[in-house]
Amino acid sequence: MKSPQSIMTRRRLLQAVTAGSILGPVCTQGAAPDAAAPSATGSLRAGFAIDEVRVRLYSPQVTQPVKVVMLADTHLFRDDERGAPFREYSGRMAKAYNQTRHFRTLQPTQPEACFEETLQTAQKEHAAALFLVGDIVSFPSEAAIEWVQSRLTPLSIPWRYTAGNHDWHYEGLPGTSAELRKEWSEKRLRPLHQGHDPLMSVLDVGGVRVVMLDNSTYEIQPEQLAFFKAQVATGKPLVLMVHIPLYAPGRPVGFGCGHPAWGAKVDKGFTIERRPPWRQEGHTAVTLEFHREVFAAPNLLGVFAGHTHKATLDVLNGIPQVVAGANATGAHLVIEVLPPPTV
Ligand SMILES: [Fe+2]
Repeated sequence: MKSPQSIMTRRRLLQAVTAGSILGPVCTQGAAPDAAAPSATGSLRAGFAIDEVRVRLYSPQVTQPVKVVMLADTHLFRDDERGAPFREYSGRMAKAYNQTRHFRTLQPTQPEACFEETLQTAQKEHAAALFLVGDIVSFPSEAAIEWVQSRLTPLSIPWRYTAGNHDWHYEGLPGTSAELRKEWSEKRLRPLHQGHDPLMSVLDVGGVRVVMLDNSTYEIQPEQLAFFKAQVATGKPLVLMVHIPLYAPGRPVGFGCGHPAWGAKVDKGFTIERRPPWRQEGHTAVTLEFHREVFAAPNLLGVFAGHTHKATLDVLNGIPQVVAGANATGAHLVIEVLPPPTV
C-alpha cells in the first residue's frame, strides 16, 4: 500500500507532467508516466498515459475510442542487381542494421522480421490505421520498397507513409536535401505515398484527424506551415506525425525541427553521411513559426516522431511529444485516443 507521502509525490508529478513543467527526458520504456488529468480550459486535451509502447490520449471531444499503430526507423536494407549502380552511395547504410536486438527480448533479430511482427501487432490490436513515419528503408532501394509494398498490400487496414531522411538518401549524390528528397521520392517512394502529397497529408480515423508532415530535411516549407494552420483551424482533435522530433528544451539537435541551435555550426553528421551541411544561417522563420504553432494548438492531442531511435517523452505546453524506438528492433507505438476517464 502506498504511503500518503508517495501518493502526494505521485499526484504532484502528474500535475507537473500535465501542466508541461517537466521537459526533461522521460523514457517510455519500462516505468512510464501516467499523466491522466482534467483538460485545461479551451483545450481538447484531457491528459495522457503511457505504458511501454501503449499511449493513451484523452479528449472530451472524442466519443468513440480510436486506436492506431505507428512505427518508424525500420531501416530495411534488402537490395538486388538494380541497386548495383548505386552501391557506392548505399554501402554504409546497407550494413548499418543488418542485425539488431529485439527491444523487448534483447535477442538477435533483424528489420524485416521486426516489421512483420509490427504488422501482426496492428492486426491483433484491431488498429484502425497504420502509420509509417520515416526511415522505413536505409536508402531508396527498389527491392526494399517492393518488399514493403508486398507486406502492406494484403493488410486489411489503411496505412499512410511519410519519409525519413534515409528513405530518399543515397550518400554522396550531389544536390541539396530538398532536391534529393524530391528526386528520389518521385523515382522510388511514389508507391508508398499512394497518390497523396508526399509533403503533407491527413487521414481521419474515427473522430481524430492524423496529420502527417514530411520534415525529413529538418525543415518545414511555407506550404506545410499553411497546411498545418488550416488543420488547427478545423477545430478537430489532431494528432501530428513527423519523422524528426520537434525541438524540446534540453534536447540535442536530433530533436532538430525548430531547434534554435540547428545549423551548419553544429552539424556533425554531414561528412559521414556525405551530404551538404545544414543551413548556414540556421532555421528559417517558417520552421520556427511552425514549432510555435504546434505547441500553441489547442486541439493538438500529441506529436509522434522517430529518428533518434530512442523511446522518449517530452511535454511542451501540455502537449506530449512521444518518440518511438527504432522499428528495426521491433519498437512501435499503439496509440489510443479516448474519452476522458471517469475515475
Ligand atoms: Fe532512422
